[in-house]
Amino acid sequence: ASTTVKLNTGALMPTVGLGTWKSAPGAVEHAVEFALKNGYKHIDTAAAYGNEKEVGHGIKASGVERSSIFLTTKLNNPDQRNPGPALEASLKALGTSYLDLWLMHWPAPMTPEYKADKSYDWLDTWKSMEKLYLENPDKLKAIGVSNFSVEFLERLLKEAKVVPAVNQIELHPSCPQQDVVDYCTSKGIVLTAYSPLGSDNSPLLQNPVVNKLAQNYGVQPANILISLQANKPNVTVLPKSVTNSRILSNFTVVDLTDAEIAELQAIDKTAHFRACSPGWTGWGSLGFPDCKHLD
Ligand code: A2P
Repeated sequence: ASTTVKLNTGALMPTVGLGTWKSAPGAVEHAVEFALKNGYKHIDTAAAYGNEKEVGHGIKASGVERSSIFLTTKLNNPDQRNPGPALEASLKALGTSYLDLWLMHWPAPMTPEYKADKSYDWLDTWKSMEKLYLENPDKLKAIGVSNFSVEFLERLLKEAKVVPAVNQIELHPSCPQQDVVDYCTSKGIVLTAYSPLGSDNSPLLQNPVVNKLAQNYGVQPANILISLQANKPNVTVLPKSVTNSRILSNFTVVDLTDAEIAELQAIDKTAHFRACSPGWTGWGSLGFPDCKHLD
């Protein structure tokens, strides 16, 4: 697998990055510092994670030059009406003058109370982000989206001046979202896989196919799941950990054969979970029950 993926801006995005969703302030600073000191060059956070400040401290503490780090953060849903100040707040919290990538976290404008704000259109949020990007090349190196299904991307691309560089979505064998992967690949939009292990207490780590391949390659089950994403030509991947030994080992990617990839992709056709679960309430709990299901 390649160690970088090229964005439609020409920039190179490191294939494996450190995820920080649910990394508590207090743990994440050390995780970021440790990851950067041990070869990671790609850190992903979000205003909504409430840990940008600690991520910034971790970057500083690592001593690694900002210019050799790919740093992503995301616009929080309640800030969609007015993204400019939110961008400034993220830059300040992270202690940096620019972002390598800034994503719309969800196509879901919200009120400050985190209720769906149906009087605002996320397409207008994208237009504001485009304007900020075009007017501030020193602050924003690329913009993109997250949690976008094909229907949302189609609507976006009809009106977009700037094609998103990235769509960050949940991707693992029980949430393959192949339609989104294929669509983005056809449009030159790089995918970033979050929750590649299936998130906390994932049953995928016990899966027999995953464990068989891990034994064959002499790696942990997590490495097989990370490698599944990293082996796709248009995908970068964000394993999350706050544990030193796991941060270290998750950076190892093995080259899987086409047959092994097919075997992994076929793992779970019945028990989709999280974003791909038939009963997933993500969109509903965001107050957008009319949004089409992700998979
Ligand atoms: P922790 O952060 O306590 O180390 P995902 O990236 O799919 O969201 O998964 C993150 C979850 O998987 C976290 O609970 C994390 O725990 C755990 N995890 C991270 N790396 C590994 C690993 N190599 N083996 C087992 N579990 C892991």
